[in-house]
Amino acid sequence: MLTPQEKKTAHLFQRPNPLERIILTGFRATGKSAVGSKLAERLGLDFIDTDTRLCVGLECSVAEYVDREGWAAFRQREQELLAKLAGVTHAVISTGGGAVLHPDEWNRLRRNSLVVWLQADIATIRYRMKQDEANAAQRPPLTGDGNKNEVEEILASRSPLYLEGSDMSLDTTALTPEEIVTMIEREISAGFPG
Ligand code: S3P
Repeated sequence: MLTPQEKKTAHLFQRPNPLERIILTGFRATGKSAVGSKLAERLGLDFIDTDTRLCVGLECSVAEYVDREGWAAFRQREQELLAKLAGVTHAVISTGGGAVLHPDEWNRLRRNSLVVWLQADIATIRYRMKQDEANAAQRPPLTGDGNKNEVEEILASRSPLYLEGSDMSLDTTALTPEEIVTMIEREISAGFPG
């Protein structure tokens, strides 16, 4: 028995070329987890947050793992998880900011998916990171030596990957998660009519 929410999107998942997943990508603190969980709830889909999944498997925070094993080991675990998630359907998946660094797994995950790139301006990213209590545990520095321009530099180097690896983008700077969810819902209805 489908819930009213599931009924709203059921047709999207049953067409000859069904939509299998909705994926959120973008830099740290652009709202992927907050938007993803609300979007999943609104559409009656499962919600998967890749960092939460990884931390359950690793039995520690991202920061603890990176401190112990290094970034290369974290990327390896992230890559393995993305490969597994390509088999998941009927889900909204919020991915860590570095997931696009794995082109093969990313392109497999993208198949039959709608990928939304969430953006925000640099000041907003910095502000949200400062406000987020989970920041230190979830987001250890990506570069060494206390690099003050890390956000600008990494964002600039990754932006072409986010652009290439997504179907649409939304600037979240002045929007609430609810507003973003509504915009994505509208996009889905327009682009995937029943
Ligand atoms: C990372 C982003 C983090 C987390 C890890 C690496 C990155 O996720 O996966 O710290 O490389 O940008 P969020 O984007 O959810 O903060």
